[in-house]
Amino acid sequence: MYPFIRGRRTRASQSIRDMVREHEVRPSDLIAPMFVMEGRTAKQLISSMPGYFRYSPDLLIKEARTLFDKGIRSVLLFGMVPENKKDNKGTEAVNPNGLLPQTVKKLKDAIPELHVMTDVALDPFSSYGHDGIVEDGKIINDKTTEVLAQMSVVHAKAGADMVAPSDMMDGRIYQIRQALEENGFHDTGIMAYSAKYASVFYGPFRDALDSAPGFGDKKTYQMDPANVQEAIREAQLDEDEGADIVMVKPGLPYLDVVRAVKETVEVPVAVYNVSGEYSMVKAAGKEGWLDEQAVMMESLLACKRAGADLIASYFAPEAVDLLQ
Ligand code: PBG
Repeated sequence: MYPFIRGRRTRASQSIRDMVREHEVRPSDLIAPMFVMEGRTAKQLISSMPGYFRYSPDLLIKEARTLFDKGIRSVLLFGMVPENKKDNKGTEAVNPNGLLPQTVKKLKDAIPELHVMTDVALDPFSSYGHDGIVEDGKIINDKTTEVLAQMSVVHAKAGADMVAPSDMMDGRIYQIRQALEENGFHDTGIMAYSAKYASVFYGPFRDALDSAPGFGDKKTYQMDPANVQEAIREAQLDEDEGADIVMVKPGLPYLDVVRAVKETVEVPVAVYNVSGEYSMVKAAGKEGWLDEQAVMMESLLACKRAGADLIASYFAPEAVDLLQ
């Protein structure tokens, strides 16, 4: 009790603060999301995500090399699909010569040690902008998971180390695991977006991929922001179905969910510090209202403290410079 106990003793100098620090962010904790588009030597600024770009495959590989050399171990790839290649069946999503698998192949050839993960969902390929096949205004679960399983095999064939289903259909982890096994991809992993909320924080991302839903919203498959028990259940189901990593998304407003999931599952837990979280900090930084870099580092650390083993974040490229 005071005065014998004084918390300030272990905060008195930088040295003692370094000694008692409980959590830290390492470059290898970070997953860099990357957007690939068709073309050559092309790079486009995403207007709602200041400082973030879509790259043609050649420039994406160059950028990934830079990140890898700085200590980032993993990228999460998203493909930007032109309007004329979108339909309701996800035809382009399962095209082995499509942009995503072709980029994976080149990326793995160029940087074999880079852990390449691919987004598995239909929304960037869907004429409706939904994560599944639409019939009579409804998202049809079991037809969708079949396509997602095929899509995962296509990515695995191209050399993806892990596929990352972000669709929130029921049973897709089981279906994907089964398809990967049947096709001999025993070592291709699954990072499941297990507790993915129907969040408005995804707005800037949907600009980045031009993938906003054409009708309605995603509330029949993505989770209600009010729920946490349901997140535990979803994460447990995905673990049982064969997920190697489970993810909670978004990040900062959902760190209680990260903690709850971390205390329940035995696989590593990732968190996705999403586009809206990134853009808010960028906007406030630009106005001079916040110290952008300090907020970035504090946010990433908060994710770790909450229990995340891995953090997918648009801050990864910038953060790694400060971590070195
Ligand atoms: C699509 C997908 C989304 C994100 C990742 N994969 C958007 C959505 O579900 O509408 C969001 C990422 C972000 O906002 O950074 N399946």
